Amino acid sequence: MNSKQVVLITGSSTGFGRMFADTLARKGHTVFATMRDPGGRNAKNASEIRSLAEKDSLPIHVLELDVTDDASVGRAVDAAVAKAGRIDVAINNAGYVVSGLAEAVTPEQAQRLMDTNFLGSVRVNRAVLPHMRRQRSGVLIHVSSGAGRVILPSFGFYCASKFALEALAESYRYELAGQGIESVILEPGQYETPIFGNIVTGADEARAKTYGAAVQQIPAKINEALSSTAGNAQEVADAVLRIIETPAGERQLRYFVSPQNFGVEEINALTKQVQANVLEAFGLTADTKFLKGKAAGSA
Ligand SMILES: NC(=O)c1ccc[n+]([C@@H]2O[C@H](COP(=O)([O-])OP(=O)(O)OC[C@H]3O[C@@H](n4cnc5c(N)ncnc54)[C@H](OP(=O)(O)O)[C@@H]3O)[C@@H](O)[C@H]2O)c1
Repeated sequence: MNSKQVVLITGSSTGFGRMFADTLARKGHTVFATMRDPGGRNAKNASEIRSLAEKDSLPIHVLELDVTDDASVGRAVDAAVAKAGRIDVAINNAGYVVSGLAEAVTPEQAQRLMDTNFLGSVRVNRAVLPHMRRQRSGVLIHVSSGAGRVILPSFGFYCASKFALEALAESYRYELAGQGIESVILEPGQYETPIFGNIVTGADEARAKTYGAAVQQIPAKINEALSSTAGNAQEVADAVLRIIETPAGERQLRYFVSPQNFGVEEINALTKQVQANVLEAFGLTADTKFLKGKAAGSA
């Protein structure tokens, strides 16, 4: 893989995605900063990114990509490959939070959340993988969360979406390694981005009202605690840069980056061992160079 890489990022209009684009481009990586509706709801964000790229001569290209729409994902990936000839790294970053007591979240809200936070990565990975396979190299980065490893009440559906993403990303890790493609999971703790202002709350208030006052207050209490302890998001962008600039084959499976560690590192260390045992028990470690050397042996 060339040291200057071609990177496609989803959800680049604001927050982490936008910071990843800026940080990577300033190091000379070619960035496709994708977002939904750059001509409409994200027109201001798209124009700010384009202006900055022009002013500072940064290799950033804004493309439209809605992760819930197969055709939109396909068009963006085709456009990036047509322009740059390849995609070395796909960063599955688009996502949002649904908060509220689990019973107050409607099935439609849950479905929309999974469509973005989980199936969004399925669509993007399916679109980029044929190109990475042709190149015999590539990195899929999945932006999970500390909430992809521990559970907060009132964040049940968000946690479920990130737990699902973790499972998929880990499965890709084992299955793709023999083709020179690495799957990586990034688990940020709480960081200051617009995410806390974009929280969707459980729509079925009547259900929430059947709970006692103390339980009803949990969502607000947790949202407040998360936003008031949030760190500087540049730490996460710097971690992504380090991951991208790590030589092929040496990247860890999981990277936990957080202002606080409430045990996620320990869970990761334990599951690393458990997974090694599982693979061994199914006779997989002996078969695949990667499984033997990396998946079972790295963090
Ligand atoms: N900030 C934190 O503390 C934290 C911690 C752990 C994990 N994360 C994860 O980090 C990722 C980025 O979040 P953030 O904190 O940077 O918040 P953010 O600023 O709200 O960014 C979320 C991004 O996702 C995009 N998005 C939502 N639905 C989309 C769709 N259907 N198609 C394409 N893009 C879509 C948003 O685009 P629009 O502008 O069009 O809505 C926005 O660009 C998320 O996956 C989040 O779960 C954040």
